[in-house]
Amino acid sequence: MPQCLICQTDYEPFISFGKMPIANGFLTEKEFEKEYFFELKTGFCPKCKMVQLVEQPDREMMFHENYAFFSSTSARQVIHFKEFADLIAENYLNSDDPFVVELGSNDGIMLQHFKGAGLRHLGVEPSANVAAVAIEKGIATISEFFDEELAKKIIAEHGQADAVLAANVMCHIPYLHSVAAGIKLLLKPDGVLMFEDPYLGDIVEKTSYDQIYDEHAFYFSVASVSYLFEEHGLEVVDVMPQNVHGGSMRYVIAHKGAKDISAAAIAQRKKEEELGLHLPETFERLRRNIETSRDKLVEILAGLKKEGKRVVGYAATSKSTTVTNYCGIGPELVEFISDTTPIKQGKYSPGAHIPVKVYEEFCGNYPEYALLFGWNHAAEIMAKEQKFMESGGKWIIYVPEVKIC
Ligand code: SAH
Ligand code: TMP
Ligand code: ZN
Repeated sequence: MPQCLICQTDYEPFISFGKMPIANGFLTEKEFEKEYFFELKTGFCPKCKMVQLVEQPDREMMFHENYAFFSSTSARQVIHFKEFADLIAENYLNSDDPFVVELGSNDGIMLQHFKGAGLRHLGVEPSANVAAVAIEKGIATISEFFDEELAKKIIAEHGQADAVLAANVMCHIPYLHSVAAGIKLLLKPDGVLMFEDPYLGDIVEKTSYDQIYDEHAFYFSVASVSYLFEEHGLEVVDVMPQNVHGGSMRYVIAHKGAKDISAAAIAQRKKEEELGLHLPETFERLRRNIETSRDKLVEILAGLKKEGKRVVGYAATSKSTTVTNYCGIGPELVEFISDTTPIKQGKYSPGAHIPVKVYEEFCGNYPEYALLFGWNHAAEIMAKEQKFMESGGKWIIYVPEVKIC
C-alpha cells in the first residue's frame, strides 16, 4: 500500500486513470516512440485528509527549459494576478523595505507589479524558458526548485520575507515538508505565506477530475493544508475562495499565534465537514461520478462521429491530457485542438496524439462542435467566440456535467 507523503499513513488509492503521459509533454511525431508513461492513481489519506497522487514523474521531467505553460496566455489570469498583487501591497507590506518572494513565478505575471512599484522581490522558477521571459522584463528571478536549502540561501542573500506568494505551484511539490520548513525560516515574525491552488471541494462538487494530472501531486482542503503547516509551527489564518482554474482556494499562513484566525477560515473547515471531505466514501462517490462523466462524453463523441460531424478541441490545456487519455479520445474523435501557445502548435497532444494547431485553423473553418478543454476559461472564451456560435457552432462541455450547449 502507498504511504501518505504528509503523515506516512498507509492508504488505498480510490481511482486509477490508467497509463498517462506528461500532461504538458506536447510532442512531435518523431518523439512518439520514446514517450514516457506512468500510472495515474489518486488516493485519500484517512489521517491527515490529504488527497494525493500515488506516483509522480521526476520533477525534471515536468519542469525544464521547454515547459509549455506560460501564465500570461490567459487575459483573465493577468487581471487575477494584478488583483492578487494589489491585495498584498495594500495589506501585507508594512515594513520599511519590504521583500516579496514568489514560488513558481513563471513568466512574471504577478511579480511584474512589485517590480513596477520598485519593491524588493525575487521569483523562484525552475523552468528556465518561462523564467527567461520574466528576467527579460527585469524581474529578479532564480531558476531553481524551492525547498528548505534554497530558503536558507535566499535568507543569507536577501534576508527574511514579508510575504511569500505561490499560485498553482504548492500542489505541484511532493516534498512539501521541506517547502514548509523553508517557509518557516523565510518568513519574518509577522510575515505571511499566501498561496492558491485548485480546491478539493470544487473537484468533488464539479467532478472536475481533469485537475488530476502528473504536476498536481496534491488536491488541498483547508483541513489537509492545516495539518501540514501545523507540523512546522505555522497555521492557516484566513482563506479566500477564488473563481479561477475551475475553483481555487487561497490560503493565508502565518507563524502560529502571530495572527487571529478569521471567521472565513473557521467556516470553511465546517463546510468541508458538511461536504464530507474528511470521509473515504466521498472519494468512492467521486470515482463513480468520474466514470459516469467519462461514459457520457465518449457516448456523445462517438455519436457525433457516426453522424459525420466535425469536432475540434478548444485549448490544449494540461488538464485535457487526463481527459483524452482516460476516455480514449484520439484524432478519430477530435480532429485537432486549437491553442494560442506557440510552443504547443504544430505538435501533438500527449498520449492521445491529437494535432495541436494555431487558432486561425479554428476560426478559419469553424467545426460543428468544439470540445471545450479550457472549460475553466469558459467565460473568457465564450465571450470572444460569438461568431462561432452565430455560425451554428455548439460547445461540448464536461464540467460540471457533460452537455452540449
Ligand atoms: N504561478 C503561475 C505558474 C503556475 S505553473 C500561475 O499560477 O500561472 C507552476 C510553476 O511552478 C511552473 O512554472 C513550474 O516550473 C514551477 N515549479 C515547479 N516546482 C517548483 C518548485 N519546487 N519551486 C518553485 N517553482 C516550482
Ligand atoms: P490552463 O487551463 O492550464 O490555464 O491552460 C490554458 C491553455 O489554453 C493554454 O495552452 C492557452 C489555451 N487557451 C487558448 O488556446 N485560447 C484561449 O482563449 C484561452 C483562454 C486559453
Ligand atoms: Zn496523511
